[in-house]
Amino acid sequence: MRLDNTRNPRSSRSEVPAASLRAAALPETIPTHVAIIMDGNGRWARARGLPRLAGHRAGVENLRRILNACAEFGVRFLTIYAFSTENWGRPPEEVRGLMNILEEVIDRELEELQRNGVQLRHIGRLEGLAPGLQEKVRHAVELTRHNEKLVLNIAWNYGGRDEIVQAIRQMVADGLSPDDITPDLVSRYLYTSGSPDPDLIIRTSGELRVSNFLIWQGAYSEWYVTPRYWPDFGPEELREALWDYAQRERRFGRVHDPVVTG
Ligand code: FPP
Repeated sequence: MRLDNTRNPRSSRSEVPAASLRAAALPETIPTHVAIIMDGNGRWARARGLPRLAGHRAGVENLRRILNACAEFGVRFLTIYAFSTENWGRPPEEVRGLMNILEEVIDRELEELQRNGVQLRHIGRLEGLAPGLQEKVRHAVELTRHNEKLVLNIAWNYGGRDEIVQAIRQMVADGLSPDDITPDLVSRYLYTSGSPDPDLIIRTSGELRVSNFLIWQGAYSEWYVTPRYWPDFGPEELREALWDYAQRERRFGRVHDPVVTG
């Protein structure tokens, strides 16, 4: 699989078409890896007088739209924050409802995901889930492991700090010496091993927080925050986010045009 989607780096920075043209076109630079904090399901539901779980179900419907749009736009990796290690603190019926939703989605969508060439990966602590659900997740991951159209990382029972602690524990268990430990090696011990770092992280519902999401991998990611609640963040706004991303100058701590000094 080719990982670099930068078709023509820099060229798209010069001309930004008007909104009407942007709505129909894509920028030349498409992020290889988009990660999303799908926030605002609860508020979306409350605004409609619905139970919170109705918001999560609307969120799943939107995920289907965004997944299709990502595949169409040429995004190769999509990582979604669906259940954090902190979400266990929600009311038991909401936790149960979210677990049921994951199970239903696997039962209902796996065949289509497979047909569409989507490779499913799980990031997070699988062993924290009910044994039957663990088995379904393992089966889905195994079944789709050779698909190459798009990798969908589902962060479920995921926390960034927890991920780093697990990585350190494993490095110690593997008997690594301090000199072996490099940033590349640490990346390989994370749940996201095999996925490049996210180029663009999107957060819906307007909160300006990282919320323990991809805290190592997101060191140089570009952020796009929108006030829209997740169920309302459709492909058109994703397209807008991609245009916004394409205008950014990514320097990774360096300068863009080195100045001759001295
Ligand atoms: C945040 O909104 C959303 C979540 C914690 C759950 C997101 C989960 C889904 C959309 C289901 C995805 C399912 C699969 C199978 C991948 P919130 O509840 O914190 O909203 P609020 O801040 O408005 O209360």
